[in-house]
Amino acid sequence: MASPSQSTNFPTIIFILFSFVLIPTINAVPFIVLHGISDKCSGHGVTRFTKLLSSWSNSQGYCVEIGDGSWDSWTMPLLEQTSIACEKVKNMTELSQGYNMVGLSQGSLIGRGIIEFCDGGPPVKNFISLAGPHAGIASIPFCESTVICIFLDSLIKSEVYSNFVQEHLAPSGYLKIPTDITDYLKGCRFLPKLNNEIKGARNSTYKERFASLQNLVLIMFEDDTVLVPKETSWFGYYPDGAFDPILPAQETELYKEDWIGLKTLDEAGKVKFVNVSGSHLKISESDMKKYIVPYLGDQPSTESSSYEWLWRLWYLTKDVIGLKEDQPLMHTTY
Ligand SMILES: *[C@@H]1O[C@H](CO)[C@@H](O)[C@H](O)[C@H]1NC(C)=O
Ligand SMILES: *[C@@H]1O[C@H](CO)[C@@H](O)[C@H](O)[C@H]1NC(C)=O
Ligand SMILES: *[C@@H]1O[C@H](CO)[C@@H](O)[C@H](O)[C@H]1NC(C)=O
Repeated sequence: MASPSQSTNFPTIIFILFSFVLIPTINAVPFIVLHGISDKCSGHGVTRFTKLLSSWSNSQGYCVEIGDGSWDSWTMPLLEQTSIACEKVKNMTELSQGYNMVGLSQGSLIGRGIIEFCDGGPPVKNFISLAGPHAGIASIPFCESTVICIFLDSLIKSEVYSNFVQEHLAPSGYLKIPTDITDYLKGCRFLPKLNNEIKGARNSTYKERFASLQNLVLIMFEDDTVLVPKETSWFGYYPDGAFDPILPAQETELYKEDWIGLKTLDEAGKVKFVNVSGSHLKISESDMKKYIVPYLGDQPSTESSSYEWLWRLWYLTKDVIGLKEDQPLMHTTY
């Protein structure tokens, strides 16, 4: 009878063996991951997420870090974060022939910023967004209904479009208070530009670039309470001036007047509106395989096809030894 230590080592050994054999089978199209707020590339959840996608899609994945990760994700204005990320992707020779992009929450906005604003950047093919606050958020994340939080929330809200807050709090770049649209359009420095919302200042280059995506995958989490409203993940939002109802994307001005090419993409059948169960960013492995991996381009190169039987064998072995699926992956918050 095998001792417990032998049986726990077995999967690891098999995995190392298979990874080694599979190293030469890298797909031609790499992808990048942009993490959410409070997170960092070296974090456990993001590392595991990137690795799993890499191995399932058979393509190389890179987490692109901005500044020091967690702290800068909160405090550095998003235009600045975007321009750093833009320089980084331009510097990565691996991406020069084009790449796919996976954005997590706030990282989805930075991703879209790269697509729209990054002059001379390598082309983005597929963009997969998980819980991206694309149409804005109407409330400060993580603030529960305690007295102090209500106080803090109203304090921030009253000052959110001031220069000071815009320069020091990243989420202020996409906080869109429906009852304060005038100040939002005047003071908010990121989302109005990203969404081509300002009349007379719309830039057709942003639209052209965004509309040139091959696929746009918008993943919304059914039990998301961090994003208010969660429909922002699909470009849905409140109408100007009121907190209800929540308009589906197709009924917003951004879509109807096609400010950024969302309608163009949708009419071409290139937008996938995906609804998964779970709270903010808690995606299961089976949903990752179903909704993300197919867009990371799993075309085995001629080189790799000879190893395909090994890949299949690994899947079989994995099931036999009982590696679990359907575990929520991202233990990060936002
Ligand atoms: C990109 O590369 C240039 C030249 O090698 C370097 O000066 C610059 O710091 C790099 N930028 C980033 C963001 O890595
Ligand atoms: C629009 O954006 C592009 C790309 O950043 C820029 O080159 C161009 O000058 C902008 N056009 C206007 C009218 O601002
Ligand atoms: C998302 O899926 C759930 C059930 O799986 C459904 O009740 C809900 O209406 C869906 N939401 C949207 C916006 O389609």
